[in-house]
Amino acid sequence: MEYRSIERTGARPSLLGYGCMRFPLDRETGSIDQARAEALIRRAMEAGITYYDTAWPYHNGESEPFLGRVLSQYPRDRYYLATKLPCWEITSREQAAELFERQLERLQTDHVDFYLLHSLSRRTWKRMLELDILSLLEEYQRQGRLRRLGFSFHDEYEAFAKILNHRDWDFCQIQLNYMDTHHQAGLQGLELARSKGVPVVVMEPVKGGSLAQLPEEVTASLRALDPEASAASWAMRWVASQPGVAVVLSGMSTPEQLEDNLSTFSHFRPLDVEENQAVEETARLLRSRLRNGCTGCRYCLPCPKGVDIPKNFQIWNNMAMYGNLRLTKRAWRELEPGARGDQCVSCGRCEELCPQHIPIREHLARLTGEVEGFLTP
Ligand SMILES: NC(=O)c1ccc[n+]([C@@H]2O[C@H](COP(=O)([O-])OP(=O)(O)OC[C@H]3O[C@@H](n4cnc5c(N)ncnc54)[C@H](OP(=O)(O)O)[C@@H]3O)[C@@H](O)[C@H]2O)c1
Repeated sequence: MEYRSIERTGARPSLLGYGCMRFPLDRETGSIDQARAEALIRRAMEAGITYYDTAWPYHNGESEPFLGRVLSQYPRDRYYLATKLPCWEITSREQAAELFERQLERLQTDHVDFYLLHSLSRRTWKRMLELDILSLLEEYQRQGRLRRLGFSFHDEYEAFAKILNHRDWDFCQIQLNYMDTHHQAGLQGLELARSKGVPVVVMEPVKGGSLAQLPEEVTASLRALDPEASAASWAMRWVASQPGVAVVLSGMSTPEQLEDNLSTFSHFRPLDVEENQAVEETARLLRSRLRNGCTGCRYCLPCPKGVDIPKNFQIWNNMAMYGNLRLTKRAWRELEPGARGDQCVSCGRCEELCPQHIPIREHLARLTGEVEGFLTP
């Protein structure tokens, strides 16, 4: 297993971190399948993974107590525990303090190694400042109950830069993969963090699974270099090859995924020039399959008929790019029938507002049929 020293924090976690929001589920109850998930964590510990990333809401609140139960069977200095304050739920310092105590109880520990303000955006950051949550967490840090203080982030780069520049963070966590280089904090955010010496933990390196099963048409250059390497391994290696990355988190749900990722990180090799070019070629081919250039800016909304235009386009574009049946099915099921493209009455108000000049009406008219055709071949 590859380990990277995080000088600023005195920690040396494994480069592959375990994301604890995608454990296998019990089919009947929808809860964590404790036996299967415990076997995964045990194997991860045995193979040298030492960074475990959970959060208050993961698995409807089950992830923290589950992880606490399993990891408490190991010496406390054999692993780093990361968890997060759900900033969107917090309305007072007292509530944050109470929640932190409950997290320690759930995790069966007296300290958290890496504590994050969870999923910061411009709006939640403003609220954290107004409530003066930082001084509370800094007090916990002085007491040793929280060893390193950071934040995870989901918003535009400008908000990221503002938060990062606010104080000397011990680390931060951003979404990054070879398709999302200019999304949210992106490579620009990674570079800013690196220039300030703030170590970066990366989430969604395989884009939540999208980059693990790619259409054959886009992977010729990767297969030519190594016919045996999995699509996920290319995505992982791309992320871990970026300067400034300290930990790459993956939410592994099966023993096969865990073994594949262990093999990538046990003999980790940064991408060489030729391999980098092959990944870039794959990204280029994936992008060429986009149906339209919707950026999700939401200027087109609200639609008088309630159509969620950006969401429809996101599902359509992802379906066309990655051809992933399971992820498309899940996203389509989550979109209310009343918000789907076939509710459009062609009033055209959205097209006057779209900065990308997308022929929204024409595209909405096509997409419902195409998505449903893809889901029921
Ligand atoms: N702080 C935040 O705001 C935030 C937000 C998101 C995530 N996170 C954290 O970051 C962690 C990592 O994000 P993520 O889980 O989205 O990472 P990810 O690695 O991009 O996605 C995990 C999914 O990718 C697929 N996968 C991973 N390795 C694979 C392999 N070798 N072969 C085939 N498929 C593979 C699996 O999908 P299937 O099982 O579906 O096939 C797995 O469930 C999370 O678990 C969570 O702890 C934090």
